[in-house]
Amino acid sequence: MALGPEKNYLFGPNGAGKTSLLETIHLLGRGRSFRTRHAKQLARHGAQAFSVSGTIADLEGTKNRLSLQFSDGSLVPRLDGSRAKSMADLAQKLPVHIIEPNTHSLVEGPPSKRRSFLDWGVFHVEQGYLEAWRKYRRILGQRNSALKKGEGRHMLDIWTATLVESAEVVEKLRIRYVAQIESLLQPIGHQLLNEVVNLEYLSGWGGSSSFEGALEASWNKDCVMRTTSVGPHRADLVLRMSGRRVREEVSRGQQKLLAAALVLAQTELFVATCGNAGILLVDDPAAELDEGSLGRLLRVLDALPAQQILTGLSEAKLSLDQGAPVFHVEQGKIDRVV
Ligand SMILES: Nc1ncnc2c1ncn2[C@@H]1O[C@H](COP(=O)(O)OP(=O)(O)OP(=O)(O)O)[C@@H](O)[C@H]1O
Ligand SMILES: [Mg+2]
Repeated sequence: MALGPEKNYLFGPNGAGKTSLLETIHLLGRGRSFRTRHAKQLARHGAQAFSVSGTIADLEGTKNRLSLQFSDGSLVPRLDGSRAKSMADLAQKLPVHIIEPNTHSLVEGPPSKRRSFLDWGVFHVEQGYLEAWRKYRRILGQRNSALKKGEGRHMLDIWTATLVESAEVVEKLRIRYVAQIESLLQPIGHQLLNEVVNLEYLSGWGGSSSFEGALEASWNKDCVMRTTSVGPHRADLVLRMSGRRVREEVSRGQQKLLAAALVLAQTELFVATCGNAGILLVDDPAAELDEGSLGRLLRVLDALPAQQILTGLSEAKLSLDQGAPVFHVEQGKIDRVV
């Protein structure tokens, strides 16, 4: 199956394999499915192993082959046939953005959902983020295992300076990223919901003091809980719609549109800042949104210069772009029809 560089449409009945195709692309770019956290569940029923692969081409025509093999409980990423150092090598080549029914959890779900959204975006846009984040996680892990063992204060203080140093880099890059996303989110939020949408980064220690001060203040609590209770690993994003906090005070349909707006803002930022904007997957938008909202979403998608795949039961509710490839899927078999 060869996709076009802009819009692509994939239609087929329930159970045909539309979401599965998007899941495959998502897996190649992100190392995990959006439907399950367990790679094993992606193997055909009864099978213990699977592999997926795909070729991407940039605007200059340079091609890369990405593949993943799952066996013995682990997923091995390969780039152009050679084993990749980590999944980050594939992620760098294939940024995958997705809007599907569960994207809603970005707004309504726990802070960890929003942190992963943020971390994945900052990783692509800010050089140095992955290194700082990995360093922070490593030292945090060491500090937490010392807390679990009930080590004395002098043992824990060894890590404070490096923990604070890496946290500062993580914070600085995240804050810069959120400001960029917010400026793109506002017009999209207005277009999709006709509301004023704001996005705020909430540091993982309340924000009023320094991280070092917050670590000091939480010392007793951390000893009792045997874990580090403050830091960038506890950060969150707060979305507001015309001043209301969206987790608690807006309708489910509006939350879905807000989640879509966040993903679209992130995709736009990739278009503006990365040489490689990646691919946007939109799973069955017609099933999720009312006619007016769907129309507004489609208009935002029309203005987005990124490769896209839109799926649906039929083309009835999507006004198709002239010249864009249309695929039909039936029992897992995909044919190009236009
Ligand atoms: N691990 C698996 N092994 C075998 N079949 C599976 C596995 N996971 C899903 N399927 C099947 O694959 C088929 C395609 O599912 P998929 O979710 O992609 O359909 P879809 O076209 O998105 O349908 P819908 O319109 O209902 O969302 C289904 O019949 C599903 O039961
Ligand atoms: Mg589906």
